[in-house]
Amino acid sequence: MAKDRPVAVLGGGLMGAGIAQVFAAAGYVVRVYEPIDDARATVKTRIGENLRMVGGDVSAVEAVSVHADLGTVVSSAGFVTEAVPEKLNLKRSIFADLERLAPRDAILASNSSVIPISTIAQDLESAHRMVGTHWWNPPYLIPLVEVIKGAKTSADTMGATMALLRELGKEAAYIQKDVPGFVANRLQHALWREAIAMVAEGICDARTVDACIRNSFGQRLAVLGPLENADMVGLDLTLDIHRTIIPELDRSSGPNPYLEAQIEAGKLGFRSGEGFRTWTGEEMAALRRQLAEHLVKAQRERNSS
Ligand SMILES: NC(=O)c1ccc[n+]([C@@H]2O[C@H](COP(=O)([O-])OP(=O)(O)OC[C@H]3O[C@@H](n4cnc5c(N)ncnc54)[C@H](O)[C@@H]3O)[C@@H](O)[C@H]2O)c1
Repeated sequence: MAKDRPVAVLGGGLMGAGIAQVFAAAGYVVRVYEPIDDARATVKTRIGENLRMVGGDVSAVEAVSVHADLGTVVSSAGFVTEAVPEKLNLKRSIFADLERLAPRDAILASNSSVIPISTIAQDLESAHRMVGTHWWNPPYLIPLVEVIKGAKTSADTMGATMALLRELGKEAAYIQKDVPGFVANRLQHALWREAIAMVAEGICDARTVDACIRNSFGQRLAVLGPLENADMVGLDLTLDIHRTIIPELDRSSGPNPYLEAQIEAGKLGFRSGEGFRTWTGEEMAALRRQLAEHLVKAQRERNSS
């Protein structure tokens, strides 16, 4: 996309600030719409801190401006993405506003985590230019952005969005069918469902589940996807394993009652100091630090290869 038109980001929270950072670091002028005063006041500081943390050019933050007026933000934008809370009615009303306020040729993108794009675009007249761009957190460190084709998204919109994200250095994945959770979250939560079921059934404790993943196939996942893995070991072996194991996997059609009971008991995870495990302040800080260091190192390795 030509850099003479600004990029508009709606919502200056965790994802919105991170997405704005990626566009600014790539040389785009970025306007952020954030209606909450406290959040608006910290967007640029957060972007600056994150640029410093990843060793980026901190002056990129100067390309970002933050506003309380939606019309100002989108008026001449070529690409608009929302990163507002995951509430269907809020997202629908934002896109209705965008149809009125954004240039008619602007691409309109949603960062919804799991809501199908066609559900958000249901009442739009120009649904052909609406697309899902599902970034992962943190957007400036995780390479994937899923690009989701809604029922009415045009081929031109898909093509231009894929090209734009690739120009930003992202691994853009073309998702042909608009299903809840798209691709990566469906896979992630298939794993979480089984992990929670095993703890609920007393097969092992939460710490052991995580250690089993981290210390086995988790070690390979960054270079070997499951279908590459199946090809590598052979589909005949995969079939033999599936004949025994698939009938045994959890196939509940809703959230596990164990998860619901934890929440009922006030166990919310880091926020309450206890979830599947108990956490001290030091343990939480150490895990966050370890994750950030791991992701920064992985990005440096990608950039130097
Ligand atoms: N957090 C993640 O890991 C993650 C990953 C991928 C996608 N997402 C998706 O990204 C979206 C945003 O998530 P987040 O984690 O950044 O949330 P967040 O709560 O950190 O940020 C949302 C921001 O939107 C602002 N906001 C509220 N109402 C608004 C409105 N009407 N117009 C504009 N802004 C408004 C809030 O003040 C807040 O700053 C959600 O759809 C979420 O599902 C989140």
